[in-house]
Amino acid sequence: MTIETEKLIQQIQDVKRRWGSRLTILAHYYCQDDVVALADFSGDSLGLSQKAAASTETEAILFCGVYFMAETADILVNYTEGSNQRNEKEIPVLMPDIGAGCPMADMASEEDAKTCKEQLSEYIDFSDVTPITYINSSAATKAFVANNNGIVCTSANADKIMNWAFERTSKILFLPDQHLGRNTAIKRGVDQNKIVLWDPLQPSLGGNTPQQIQNAQVILWKGCCPIHQRFSVDIVKKVREEHPDAIIWVHPECPQEIVKLCDGAGSTTKLIQVVNDAPAGSTLAIGTEWKLVERLRKQNPDKTFIWLGQYPSVCSNMAKSTLPKIAQVLESLDAGKPTNQVRVDVQTALAARAALKRMLEV
Ligand code: 13P
Ligand code: SF4
Repeated sequence: MTIETEKLIQQIQDVKRRWGSRLTILAHYYCQDDVVALADFSGDSLGLSQKAAASTETEAILFCGVYFMAETADILVNYTEGSNQRNEKEIPVLMPDIGAGCPMADMASEEDAKTCKEQLSEYIDFSDVTPITYINSSAATKAFVANNNGIVCTSANADKIMNWAFERTSKILFLPDQHLGRNTAIKRGVDQNKIVLWDPLQPSLGGNTPQQIQNAQVILWKGCCPIHQRFSVDIVKKVREEHPDAIIWVHPECPQEIVKLCDGAGSTTKLIQVVNDAPAGSTLAIGTEWKLVERLRKQNPDKTFIWLGQYPSVCSNMAKSTLPKIAQVLESLDAGKPTNQVRVDVQTALAARAALKRMLEV
């Protein structure tokens, strides 16, 4: 560790000590090791939203992750059930870098979702469609979903949420991750012929015919995670051939052609559990963000890790939560002038909150 890094950690720990339980630092597992180490809680998207929802006693939250996660935290801590306004005693949700977005979340805008609803309504009864949005989406897209009796899901609860939706309607519109949507639907036994892809760039019906839409059970938005898109079928096949005993698991943001070659797919929490539960001497190939896999490799020296990709698949947005930026934001908070605050507008937040609460209660 360099002297500079030591100094930064010291500076951050000093603020943490002064603030005690009044400050909560949350970090996603894809953040770099030294950031995860200083967090009060690190987790997957579901765990982080549950933690944020329970953080009502804190006075400030520093969210090391990407923008939609901080938005979700703001919605869950700064609005109360039954109230139609922002809480008087606001808990600022800050980010080390407010420009850390998720490209997948940007692939489904509220406007495009509304256009999709309008076009679908020409051929099917939209009240028989439950929109589900992956938590990797904007607050506005969550609000659209909530306003149409829909719900949010994460990679950890997508199976449960899809069951919930199919108990209500015969069709699902799944935004924005086509792969999580397809993997979940196929696992549930939905016929592949009843799954269609909605391309928002196509002028009409997302590139589908009216018949395809009428026949569909699941309409998948054409969005994806560029990081999980990088794993290749050829490499998975090669690992299988060369290491027949290897335990191969990937994140469900990976395409179905990959998932079907693996032993399983699961959220980051599930992947961590698979690694920890594997007996000493195991060979593991885990297809997800590089920093998490590297951390697991270092923590499990008794196991062999094989990288599934051709290149390290680093989420550059998660990597924006760096020690210098964290130190700077905490200094500003400590000085009474918080910077990089994420604030969702009241109307959007109240609607989005309904879809998030629905998810947390299913
Ligand atoms: P989970 O940690 O919820 O599995 O999600 C991974 C991810 O891509 C977050 O952006
Ligand atoms: Fe978004 Fe993919 Fe990064 Fe997750 S890993 S934050 S889905 S770009």
